[in-house]
This record gives sequence, structure tokens and C-alpha cells, in this order.
Amino acid sequence: MKPIGRVLSMSGEYMHDRIEITLFKGERVYKGEYLYVEIDGRKIFLQVELNPIRRPTSSYDDKLVRDGLAKRDMERETWKALCWQVGYEEDGQIQPYLFPIPPLIDVYRPTPEELKQFLSPSELSIRVGTIYPTDTPLRLGLRTLLRQGLLDCGGVGTGKTTLLLTILMGLLTQTPKDQPVHLLVIDWDGEFNVPGLAEAAKKKGGYVRIEAPFKVAREVRIAPREFYDKVRKMLGLSPHSKEARALYAVLMRRRERNETLIWDRETYLDIISDIDSSDIKSSLEEKAEVLFGEVEADKTIDLIDLIMRNSLVHLDFSNVEGWDEIIFSTRDALDVCYHEARANPRFGVAIFIDEVHNFAPQVPHEAPASKEAYDAMLPVMKLLATTGPRNKVPLVVATQRLSEVDKVVSTQMGQNIFAFRVEDIDLERLKGIMGEVAEAARMLPRGHAIFKGHAIKVRTPVISVIDRVLEPASVRKDILSAWRE
Ligand SMILES: Nc1ncnc2c1ncn2[C@@H]1O[C@H](COP(=O)(O)OP(=O)(O)OP(=O)(O)O)[C@@H](O)[C@H]1O
Ligand SMILES: [Mg+2]
Repeated sequence: MKPIGRVLSMSGEYMHDRIEITLFKGERVYKGEYLYVEIDGRKIFLQVELNPIRRPTSSYDDKLVRDGLAKRDMERETWKALCWQVGYEEDGQIQPYLFPIPPLIDVYRPTPEELKQFLSPSELSIRVGTIYPTDTPLRLGLRTLLRQGLLDCGGVGTGKTTLLLTILMGLLTQTPKDQPVHLLVIDWDGEFNVPGLAEAAKKKGGYVRIEAPFKVAREVRIAPREFYDKVRKMLGLSPHSKEARALYAVLMRRRERNETLIWDRETYLDIISDIDSSDIKSSLEEKAEVLFGEVEADKTIDLIDLIMRNSLVHLDFSNVEGWDEIIFSTRDALDVCYHEARANPRFGVAIFIDEVHNFAPQVPHEAPASKEAYDAMLPVMKLLATTGPRNKVPLVVATQRLSEVDKVVSTQMGQNIFAFRVEDIDLERLKGIMGEVAEAARMLPRGHAIFKGHAIKVRTPVISVIDRVLEPASVRKDILSAWRE
């Protein structure tokens, strides 16, 4: 193995975390690249943060250039790499090396095999792409991914939906035969109507596509106290309001009788019929719609049963008119999944939502559905973002507009994040979640993303090129293609 340069600090001081390298003539490193040094038989990995050329400037250089006399002289140029220490591997974990990295020791570029070994999680993992610009696969640890969820963000046409498809396909085709998977796709515009996906799901354990409108049958049983909390939160009632107090009184009587309650409109109406004040009663009656939706579709689906029997349940809303229906139905779907997962130790489902800012907007009145729809949806989205993964209902979400996603949702989902090229207004939010490295996301070409998260071994970001396994349905359905047909 030939070194590509040596550690050499211009200031003459040598640190453990910040490492300056002078490259041998002709060697090149790129920003974000991984390198290593060897100390006491340990490979200590470094990541290039900056890769400047250094050339001392003389006072007369300015004049020489102006007069057209100065020419490039490569002999006067030094190619540098300014790196951060990433650490070394021990027992499948990355540890920091706490002593200074000494002067003039050799610096190496890892082989693809070494890099893979260093980055890949030791747990069961799926490949989603490669580490730019190598052939080294980027693999995400499944247990971690599904315990934490994932946020996929980027500007228009940067590759977000393609990444969701790649992850779906990874779960369906790269997991062991004896490992069942259960996925739910909330597909508001039909992007996931791609034959390859359905085939892979059928092979893995079953595929079902449900075309909206439909109604989610729900037989969620909860304790009276939980019923109270849920109604109060979803309606935004203060605990001191007369509605909340009346509801509380009635529900506590149910609790004394040791009842469990079905979370549905009928039970709700039954409960409020016990309230004495007719004012409060009718005010709460009017709100049943917020809690349980208004859609009266003839198609009722038992979503839990469908998920248990299939690897992929695809809820296709592309023929629905209007966002309220999408939001209310999705809310019901998420809600039954969450409750089932909490009640049933054998149930769990990973939920995929594209363009999640339409489902959990930061400013609901600027989003496509009505206030009532979001009043019902937001608490469920927040609940899932915060406690979903722990309860076996992780979210895998994509958005074009990070700054328009509800803050609770975007911050909670930041444990594993892919950032494609983002617009400047979303960059600030991305930095808040990811750190300064987000800057790099301004320049990435399509299909390239920075990944930062726990589903790989290192906590430092990696630039990756996503595998394009399938194309979203919208590809080739643009107006120019239509005219050409
Ligand atoms: N990793 C990739 N490698 C090669 N091509 C890609 C990759 N990712 C996306 N593309 C191509 O880029 C185009 C846009 O991809 P995609 O629809 O996934 O982006 P998007 O961010 O979801 O876009 P939109 O904002 O329209 O939803 C498609 O033609 C797709 O095939
Ligand atoms: Mg898309």
C-alpha cells in the first residue's frame, strides 16, 4: 500500500482531532474523502474537510500577473488536505484516538474493501448506494434504521422519490428469506405505481394496492384516560375548558367500571351523550368530524389485517379529488397502525410518506388541506415522529421543502438524514439538524446526497450516490414527453 502524503502542519502544532496533510506530487483528494494513518497497528481514519492548494504569494506577484509575466509554476504549489479525525474501529465500534497525530507519518487512502469494512454496520444491512466517488457500497443498518426512521430531503427533481424506492426495494429484496417485512406506502400522487415494486413485494410476501377512496376500519381499544387525552389533544382543548372537564367526568365513570373503549365515532357519541349540559354536548358533537373524519366511502378496509398478510400495502390516493380526503384517510391509517403496534407485540410496520410537508406542515394554512384536516392529522404525525419508531411504526419520509415541515417532525426525524441538493431557504433548517456540513448539499448533482446518521458506523457525514433501482412513475410523464407521443 503506497502512501499519498504525510502529516504536516503549517503552524508546527499537531492535534488529535484536526490534521493537516501535505500530499505527494500528483496526488489528489476530494472533499469528504476518507483517508487513514497508522499508529500502533491501528488504522485511524480521517475525513477531508478542505483540500486547498497552497502557494506562497510574493509581494510582486500581483504586479507580475498584471503585466502578464507570472506563469503557473507547479513546483511552487503544495496540495493540502485539512482533515478531521473520524476514529478507529474496535469491536465493531468507532473509537476516537485521543493522542496527537504525529508529524510526518504516512497517510493512506483506504481500499474499497477497507472503507466498506470501516463504514458498514455490523448488523443486518441493506445497500442503498455507493460512497462518492468510489465503488464502496453505502449500507444502512436495518435495526437502527427501523428504530429511528429516516428523513429524505432535497429540491425538485433531485432524487428523493428514487431513494424511497431504493430503500423499499432494499427491504423487500435484500433481507433474508426468513425475515418478513411489512411496509405501508402513503402514495398521494401515484408515484409508487411501478411494476418492479409490486413484483418485489409479491415475491417477498404479498402486495396489495388500495385505491382511495376507502375507509379504514378501526377497532382500536383504549383506556378511558387515553380516550380523554386523545380527544383533548386532537381538539386542542385546555384541561380547564368546560368541554374537557365534562368529558373527563364522564370518562372517569367509565374507568371506574373498568371499561375499555373502542376509538370510533359511535363510542365517542355515546360518551358525550352522558354529558348533562346540552351546550357542551352539541359543541363536542360537532367536533366528531375532526376526530373521525367525514368521508363515507363504501369501501372499508381492514388495514391491520392487510399489513399482516402482505409485505407491502400501497395506499394509492392518485384518483382522489382534494387533499382533505387524503389527509383524513392517512390520519386514520397511521392511527390504527400506531394503536395496533402498541397493543399487539407481533405487529409493526414501516410507513413511507413522500412530500411529507403536505401531511405535517409547519404552517397549516399555507398547506393544501383544510385546517380541520390538519387539526386531526398533526397530533398523529407528531406522535409517530416522536414515539413511532420505538413502538414499531417508524416513518421514512421525504420532502422537497424541509422548512415547511412541522418542526417536531423534522427535528425528530433527523437521526438518519439524506440531503440532496436543497434550496437556500431550506438550508438553514438542514444545518440545524445536520450541522455545518449541510453547506455541501448546495452543490450536489442529482442522485447524490449527504448521509448523516446512526444507521452507519461513523457519525461523520458521507457523500453518497444513490442506486437507482426503479424509476418513480412520474418519470417520462412530463409535458414534453406527452407532446412527443
Ligand atoms: N440516484 C439516481 N441516479 C440516476 N438518476 C436518478 C437518481 N435519482 C433520481 N434520478 C433521476 O432524476 C429524476 C428525478 O428523480 P425523482 O423523481 O426521484 O426526484 P424527486 O426529488 O422525487 O423529484 P420531484 O421533486 O419531482 O418529486 C428521474 O428521472 C430519476 O430517474
Ligand atoms: Mg418525488
